[in-house]
Amino acid sequence: MNSQITAIAAYAPEKRIDNTYFEKIIETSDEWIVSRTGIKERRFAAEGESTSAICVKATEKLLNENPGVDLEGVDFIIVATTTADQVMPSMASQVQNTLQIPNAGCIDIMAACAGFIYGLILAKGMVAAGTHKKILVYGAECLSRFTDMTDRTSCILFGDGAGVALVEPSETPKILQTITGTDGSYGKDLYLSQTATVVNGEEIKRDGKIHQNGKVVFKWAVRTIAQNAGELLRKNNMTLDDLDWIILHSANLRIIEAVANEIGYPMEKMLTSIAQFGNTSSASIPLAWDLARQAGKIKKGNKMLLLGFGGGLTYAGAIVVV
Ligand code: UT7
Repeated sequence: MNSQITAIAAYAPEKRIDNTYFEKIIETSDEWIVSRTGIKERRFAAEGESTSAICVKATEKLLNENPGVDLEGVDFIIVATTTADQVMPSMASQVQNTLQIPNAGCIDIMAACAGFIYGLILAKGMVAAGTHKKILVYGAECLSRFTDMTDRTSCILFGDGAGVALVEPSETPKILQTITGTDGSYGKDLYLSQTATVVNGEEIKRDGKIHQNGKVVFKWAVRTIAQNAGELLRKNNMTLDDLDWIILHSANLRIIEAVANEIGYPMEKMLTSIAQFGNTSSASIPLAWDLARQAGKIKKGNKMLLLGFGGGLTYAGAIVVV
């Protein structure tokens, strides 16, 4: 059985944090942040606004913006997140309860900033297996709760947000060939630990905050993503000319520009959410899709290459037909 994304929406919390916020707490400037990352502002969840709550808000947007869509018959919920409100119960089961979706299987998955694409790939497989017919896939993060606000190399990057896609059977293939991969030897270059003190035999901080080796991740991302965009196109017997848009995880505008330059694709066709929302990890791809859809850019039948990458270090990509 083929599958398709029948609806997609995204939500970002109300509280806007512009770059001047950081000028007051660390040694930085709006000019440095914009020129080195492309980020103009990001959103922070309000006190008590949880990751599962912003998933629910994204679902409400999905229903409001797609009058023909309802939650009747949703049989599985996948929430990709690195910033769950708690380890157990899962975010997916909290969403199930709030939205009153009876009999849905529920799991959270963790693949950092690649999580949303991993979720789509799992949903595609479940539809192909014939076991499930209506799956909600979320990428949702409240990164602001896990940000070290004293570390100027990382605190300026992160924002909060949630996206949701509805995956259902399709007569023709619309989630085409996909790609996944990981190099776990880079584990210590991007981590968030509440309990462990060692990764790959090397010491890490157990402070519940995100730590990264920005330069290493940056270089790995550009190299890996450029290679995998090509690999994904080959797997689908396509070339860049067959694509209408590319959405890479919005980690840093300079990573996206470097990949576009490396593969020879115009920046105007790279859809991003970095300027408005910062790095929102697993939510960044649906947020970019939603911004472009609202701007009237994405049309029915468009072909898009999606590629996420992050902590692991891991990546996942898919080509989808809208
Ligand atoms: O979501 C997926 C995972 N994350 C990523 O993909 C992140 C990838 N990495 C990056 O986005 C970039 O490496 C950063 C934005 C984190 C850093 O940018 P950079 O261009 O690699 O800067 P840098 O680390 O080379 O630092 C350049 C200078 C340094 O000063 P010196 O040593 O040259 O005097 C830093 O101390 O900029 C300084 N710096 C800052 N200055 C003002 C670092 N952070 C800041 C800051 N404000 N916030």
